[in-house]
Amino acid sequence: MPDTRQRQPVHPLVVRITHWINAFAMVCMVMSGWAIYNASPFFPFRFPAWATVGGWLGGSIAWHFAAMWLLCANGLLYLAYGIGRGHFRRKLLPVHPRDVVHDAVLALRFKLPHDTGRYNAVQRALYLWVLSLGVLLVASGLSIWKPVQFSWLTALFGGFDFARRVHFVAMAGVFGFVVVHLVLVLLVPRTLLPMLTGRARPSAHEGTQP
Ligand code: HEM
Repeated sequence: MPDTRQRQPVHPLVVRITHWINAFAMVCMVMSGWAIYNASPFFPFRFPAWATVGGWLGGSIAWHFAAMWLLCANGLLYLAYGIGRGHFRRKLLPVHPRDVVHDAVLALRFKLPHDTGRYNAVQRALYLWVLSLGVLLVASGLSIWKPVQFSWLTALFGGFDFARRVHFVAMAGVFGFVVVHLVLVLLVPRTLLPMLTGRARPSAHEGTQP
């Protein structure tokens, strides 16, 4: 039987554009960041060269700062849109711990329904979590980039060395989010096209969503 359900707008253009620019900038930031870390590691390991960009320390720093401007400008646009146009209020709030636990249990049993254009409590919590990590990454990054000009910020992070570790841990948190995010997109691939086109057919309740 042909599917007669009309495609509905689910993801606004600003959200889609900023999402994909963010994904690109994040990959550049993480890969160049790993190369910068490798030059002076504070854990007993280095990242493999194939997982880094820049070729040498100066090149990786150039990549890191170029992607940083893109990430910050794009992030500010997304935050301004999210707050100013009510996107966060409509799509990411409220989040109640009880609902997160409830939806997480259903997701683990592959019984979480997918409402087109509506995020479940686990998604809301994860998206708000990664957005907070993004702010922490930028703030800790600023504090180690300009520790003299932003000495108050560096002090807030407990000094330069501790701020480096905070920056690393925030990166690890974002990396962990992206792994889970991608696994869930693979599990429910029909969420991918709407994030590109902005439209989706109202779905019957089936499967989990990223
Ligand atoms: C190639 C990599 C990525 C793919 C394929 C991808 C895919 C997706 C998809 C399909 C959705 C919509 C989910 C749904 O409708 O249920 C989404 C939303 C989202 N993704 Fe990603 N994503 C990627 C990278 C990232 C990265 C690197 C971040 C952040 C560090 C991120 C953060 C988000 C956020 C915050 C949302 C919600 C956006 C909103 O509505 O405001 N994604 N992603």
